[in-house]
Amino acid sequence: MRSVALVGVIYALLALPDVLAVKSNDFKTCSQSGFCRRGRALSARAKEAQSSWKSPYSVDPSSISIASQEATVTAAVKSSLYPDIKFGLELRIHDDGVVRVRLDEIDGLRKRYDEAASWALVAEPRISSSVSWTAGKKDLRAVYGEKKDIEVVVTYEPLRVTLLRNGKEQIVLNGRGLLHMEHFRAQTPAVEVPVDETGEPQEVLQVENVRAWFEGDEEDAWWEEKFSSWTDSKPKGPESLSLDITFPNHGTVYGIPQHATNLSLPSTTGDSPSYTDPFRLYNADVFEYLASSPMSLYGSIPVMHAHSAHSTVGVFNAVGSETWIDISYPSNKATETHWISESGIMDVFLLPGPTPEEVFAQYARLTGTTALPPHWSLGYHQCRWNYVSSDDVRTVQKRFDEEDMPVDVFWLDIEYAEDHKYFIWDHKTFPDPVEMTNDVAAIGRKMVVIVDPHLKRASNYPVYQEASEMGILVKPKSGEGEYEGWCWSGSSSWIDHFNPASWDWWISKFKTSQLETGFSWLESSEDIHIWNDMNEPSIFNGPEITMPKDSIHYGGWEHRDLHNINGMLFHSNTAQAVSGRSDIPKRPFVLTRSFYAGSQRISAMWTGDNLGTWDHMAVGIKMVLANGIAGMTFAGFGIFSPFFRAHAHIDTKRREPFLLDEPYKSIIRDTLRLRYSMLPIWYTAFKESSVTGMPILRPHYVMFPKDTAGFAIDDQFFVGSSGILVKPVTEKEKKEATVYLPEDQVYYDYFTHHRKHITVAAELHQVPVFIRGGSILPTRERPRRASPLMKLDPFTLRVALSKTGTARGELYLDDGITYSHQQGELVWREFVAEQPQKKITRISSKDLASAKPESAVDGGELTTYDPKNAFAKEIEEVRVEKIVVLGLNVKPSSVKWEYVPGVAASDKKEGTSSVH
Ligand SMILES: *[C@@H]1O[C@H](CO)[C@@H](O)[C@H](O)[C@H]1NC(C)=O
Repeated sequence: MRSVALVGVIYALLALPDVLAVKSNDFKTCSQSGFCRRGRALSARAKEAQSSWKSPYSVDPSSISIASQEATVTAAVKSSLYPDIKFGLELRIHDDGVVRVRLDEIDGLRKRYDEAASWALVAEPRISSSVSWTAGKKDLRAVYGEKKDIEVVVTYEPLRVTLLRNGKEQIVLNGRGLLHMEHFRAQTPAVEVPVDETGEPQEVLQVENVRAWFEGDEEDAWWEEKFSSWTDSKPKGPESLSLDITFPNHGTVYGIPQHATNLSLPSTTGDSPSYTDPFRLYNADVFEYLASSPMSLYGSIPVMHAHSAHSTVGVFNAVGSETWIDISYPSNKATETHWISESGIMDVFLLPGPTPEEVFAQYARLTGTTALPPHWSLGYHQCRWNYVSSDDVRTVQKRFDEEDMPVDVFWLDIEYAEDHKYFIWDHKTFPDPVEMTNDVAAIGRKMVVIVDPHLKRASNYPVYQEASEMGILVKPKSGEGEYEGWCWSGSSSWIDHFNPASWDWWISKFKTSQLETGFSWLESSEDIHIWNDMNEPSIFNGPEITMPKDSIHYGGWEHRDLHNINGMLFHSNTAQAVSGRSDIPKRPFVLTRSFYAGSQRISAMWTGDNLGTWDHMAVGIKMVLANGIAGMTFAGFGIFSPFFRAHAHIDTKRREPFLLDEPYKSIIRDTLRLRYSMLPIWYTAFKESSVTGMPILRPHYVMFPKDTAGFAIDDQFFVGSSGILVKPVTEKEKKEATVYLPEDQVYYDYFTHHRKHITVAAELHQVPVFIRGGSILPTRERPRRASPLMKLDPFTLRVALSKTGTARGELYLDDGITYSHQQGELVWREFVAEQPQKKITRISSKDLASAKPESAVDGGELTTYDPKNAFAKEIEEVRVEKIVVLGLNVKPSSVKWEYVPGVAASDKKEGTSSVH
């Protein structure tokens, strides 16, 4: 919310002075974090010991228990360092070939946090009943896959888990022997190590030497840790988890958002690493972050893709605590990673691929896809900290209309709320919030209003009072009372969304009708949707600007165990509340800053408090791409990203698009209109993503997995499977761009329709947008004030013929508001161009929903589909008014329209045609 975010609505615009604003000292480096230090020291010792290093963990073969009729196996694991400590290993092979590997301490002094996966998973995965494990003398094996080409091997001594395909190692756990689950122990007084006459420590017990060889001889930050002025009390002692994951045949890795870095992840260890610190996952409010850094940002998704020209595989390491990840590339064919987490069990999902599509599908089956958002949320969002009054909102709306600039949503930041008590309007400035919203909604527009998680501890704030009385606030380390911290609202407390008692209560706060008891948001409307900011949570006087790790949540868990999941529970309960306000449930729009695996099911995210610099524009694209790798695809900030909003800091001059000087004003008007004309393409891409889990912005390796030259490309991308290729302009005074064209195919300029080459003009007003030969793009070309007003507008089809004279494309439409599409209230069509005979190009349209009911909607198969459903009837007058054919070698001598009976009304002969 303090975002300086999007300066302009295109990727290229007036940059602010390049001030370095992040206070790096507010955030830990690995060397300032006890468990990260221990994890890195472990890998350093392993490196030094070279081949004599051996993991102390082993499977006890006599303990192996193989489930009958399903692909589950359990076994006892021991560490030779601590022979009395018991560990339990479990492996399950899911129906779709994903392997889940869990390791936990058994009968330990305490219990490790084991709920991260249950928050992330959309449902309990089905265990395969057609695969079985076989226990041998040295290892356990399971072979499966349609071609029996996948094999999982659990080696007993040392413990190692390997996923192979066609005999080739894909993913190896503990191959480097860095697995270490620090067991719970009682705090013992420090033992003085005897020293000899020279002052050197004397040799103690042999086992101590073995431990020191592995764990180090110091108890480094086991029971307490200081950072700056804070002390983390660590009552449970050391409980970190170190795990190496190696991809012996994959030389590129992607994912683990959120970091401001290259899509192809730079190295953090090994010879001359790009960064000296590991990538960190610890949700944090990093104001004006660095444009290239492995530092943590607002959200964390522990998902990584490993890629080569031969295959793509993935891992989802379901951990909710702070995690650091070292990456090194021992050769250009292999990747080594080392994951160091502060607490929690080991719960790793191995996604066998072998294509990017299959990895996305496998991850989507685990954690869900991006729900189809309300259609209007793909329009332009105008935000600022802050629109200061109801009349300010009305004036801004009027100015957009006067300047013929389309916009769908006006946003209110924290200053709408009296004393930052969210839900409570400041009536001095917003005397008539419902009327104001109605004025916005009269043109089909919406409002988004911020609700942050910090509750002002005030006796006149009913939301806080109720939460306090119900005892559903996060507790301080004593476990008694309410944790108190400082945020926008001054002295504040935070709802513990891990407490089930908070769920229905929170949902009820958004009701627009009177409740029997308690506060509900009477001064609201169904046209108000919600922005959840500051949900890492951001706490101004907390360590690293967040909640102390020893704060206590429901079930007695420490904040450290679930920190990275915290923000997701807040925005997902908010999304349920927004959807549940009306009798007919409507799709909610909730924007969240913090996120975790699974957040994609309910919310959109943006790239946080960036700066209006060219560097930030450039890295923002990479960040949106990386988010998509980890499923969080409704992300962004600019016209060519799935989410399109401009925002500004309270200290900035007003800079709504209509205030800009020429030529910028006209450039932005054109850009806004371009976005609106392309909404059918975006919405169709969202529909596909909601079914398949494929990202909306697609990097090259996803489109062309075998093209090694494209693996590191992250400054251009494709939009869904539409065939649109975009190369945003992210350098000042750029006149030209070099676009990487990955294939022997014709690419056309979106605007001029000319065949394109790799170097194109790319000034501010000419963002290079290409159409891949072989694509058909549906657009709506009539400028409107807001997207709902386009509902009955006709379509234009751009038919971009491939080298062989063919093309195809899709168009998906539904009411854009409710869930009626899940009952088949939709239109989903395919357009095909082919050349059945020399000199004839035939373009036809076909009903895809009838042909592929299993892929027509998110959330399950359509059981029946009636092409004459109520929604289709509602839009039956909608026409294709224009067809533009690109790539015809000669001017056609005649154009013939043909109506095939039984095909929906929208294909009836009508309209004009033009040929390029
Ligand atoms: C990111 O990629 C660019 C282009 O390949 C490269 O020049 C740069 O060094 C990379 N950054 C890091 C931190 O490795």
